Amino acid sequence: MVIAGGADSLSKPPILYNDNVTEALMRANAAKDTASKLRAFATLRPKDLAPRPPELADISSGLTMGQAAEKMARENGIDRESQDIYALESHQKAVDAWEKGVFNDEVMHLHIGPDYEHTATKDGIPRPETTLEALAKLRPVFDRRYGTVTAGNASPLTDGAAAIILMEADTAERLGFAPLAFIRAWAFAGLDPSWQMLMGPAFAGPLALDRAGLTMDDIDVVDMHEAFASQMLSNLQAFGSDTWAKRHLGRDRAIGAIADDKLNLYGGSISIGHPFAATGARQALTMARELERRDAGTALVTQCAAGGLGAALVLER
Ligand SMILES: CC(C)(COP(=O)(O)OP(=O)(O)OC[C@H]1O[C@@H](n2cnc3c(N)ncnc32)[C@H](O)[C@@H]1OP(=O)(O)O)[C@@H](O)C(=O)NCCC(=O)NCCS
Repeated sequence: MVIAGGADSLSKPPILYNDNVTEALMRANAAKDTASKLRAFATLRPKDLAPRPPELADISSGLTMGQAAEKMARENGIDRESQDIYALESHQKAVDAWEKGVFNDEVMHLHIGPDYEHTATKDGIPRPETTLEALAKLRPVFDRRYGTVTAGNASPLTDGAAAIILMEADTAERLGFAPLAFIRAWAFAGLDPSWQMLMGPAFAGPLALDRAGLTMDDIDVVDMHEAFASQMLSNLQAFGSDTWAKRHLGRDRAIGAIADDKLNLYGGSISIGHPFAATGARQALTMARELERRDAGTALVTQCAAGGLGAALVLER
């Protein structure tokens, strides 16, 4: 049996200092007496003490995720309004799902310190008050002058954790566990991150479908990680385009358009948040629970990631 998942706390990112500070700390650590410890810091200048804010940059391309999202919006002709409409709908779906109780049995209640008197029972990220007008007023973050990616149409930085248990069907049967869903196939793919870094779903998705012996038409529900609205709309364009499939996958026809009523039924990372290490397990769990509710069907779960990576999973009931 395997427990798969992760936790991220983006409200408390590690703050980095430059190499001079690292070296001084190492010298101080090795020093035998207080005077030597103090001398270890003598070479530091005030500018060395300025912390470097954490940046979500991809080491191979040097681009931040937000810059990659801007590049994809530009190169794929995705305008600001389409991104804002996508983000608004993501919030509406997440708010609606919470109201209908979809997440009730899926989300753990958390007792909040230091006195542990308050218990959080609900996600704080979905915004019932969001409107298209409010989204349209937000300033672009990653390209302040010409950009279209804002705090509203990007996934927010959040804290979160998720976990799932995986096992062979025989093991589940022997131990008396009722599986929520079965993994039919999975795939990872990579692309040049300096091109359109967050196109992973359009590469890993078709590979996982081929391995499952299925096409998009056979899939009942899709959960695609919403890093940014521009990344979602770029991938959706690719899934539905014959030209894209010919050029980038060497296939005769499109992977298959993803119908709106199959996609991210309960919102996605834009409205639920994206604690990096937890998102994959969160998506797989929501889709497994959806198949359990329907007691039938197949789901495609897919993500993009830094480094131009893509992941995809085909689940079935
Ligand atoms: C975009 C980003 C920089 C914004 O960070 P931030 O400025 O701290 O974001 P905030 O939540 O404070 O939002 C900024 C403003 O937008 C507003 N806003 C955000 N979402 C909104 C929405 N849906 N509707 C209306 N207003 C919204 C906030 O209320 C806030 O307004 P205020 O300044 O008046 O309080 C950050 O979320 C980010 O880096 N996201 C990308 C994460 C990423 O790279 N993921 C990797 C994907 S693979």
